[in-house]
Amino acid sequence: MLPIIDRPLIQYAVDEAIQAGCDTLIFITNRYKHAVADYFDKAYELEQKLERAGKTEQLELVRHVLPNGVRAVFVTQAEALGLGHAVLCAKEIVGDEPFAVLLPDDLIYNRGDGALKQMTDLNASTGASVIAVEDVPHEQTASYGIVATDAFDGSHGRISAIVEKPKPEDAPSDLAVVGRYVLSPKIFELLEATGTGAGGEIQLTDAIAQLLKSEPVDAYRFEGRRFDCGTHLGLVEATIRFALNSKKLAKPARQKLQEMLAEDD
Ligand code: G1P
Repeated sequence: MLPIIDRPLIQYAVDEAIQAGCDTLIFITNRYKHAVADYFDKAYELEQKLERAGKTEQLELVRHVLPNGVRAVFVTQAEALGLGHAVLCAKEIVGDEPFAVLLPDDLIYNRGDGALKQMTDLNASTGASVIAVEDVPHEQTASYGIVATDAFDGSHGRISAIVEKPKPEDAPSDLAVVGRYVLSPKIFELLEATGTGAGGEIQLTDAIAQLLKSEPVDAYRFEGRRFDCGTHLGLVEATIRFALNSKKLAKPARQKLQEMLAEDD
């Protein structure tokens, strides 16, 4: 729920999913995160207040939290057993069709199509599962899932191996998994058979390693810029970037930044 300028991080992921054509959004949260469900709930009283006060800009923001035709489902993950386990919590709702996973901490900005739309387009043309990747400095491989690919053509390649958070000396490449996945529903039965992995958690990466044995999975180097909003620096960077992209804020934000940089401390 941390905001970047005027909306919470989760809203950016929701907008990206909707742009890619998702009509059912499944939020896997813990039992303490009622704020997420509250935020997506319709805020009649607030809307009325804003309407009466003539605050049209804010009213638009509140009204478009979820557009018509998109439904939200909230699932509580009773215990934080890992990303793989969180994804498994959505099994009954997803059913037997391809689906996307977005980790909202990874905020991706792109002027054109969002990262997920780029990935669903690739999936539509190949039928393969797709995982977003980007190059990371070699010494940072232990913070990510890392893939090895066959014939990477600059934008995508078939994954031949994937490993969760390898030490730099064990990493098969510097291509790191970013929090966007388009997955075949077969992943659910594989997740059910996945035991604990790196960090003592049930890892999505380990189930994907199993998926590779029976189905094609592509790594896709998306167009856009990722901000790791799970870190303080990433949040600061994203805030500056979105301020500089905003019609209203770009000029004053640039001026403030210049003033600050010119100050001594
Ligand atoms: C998760 C995944 C990891 C991926 C990362 C991207 O890790 O397990 O493979 O590279 O997201 O943000 P986490 O950052 O949750 O530890």
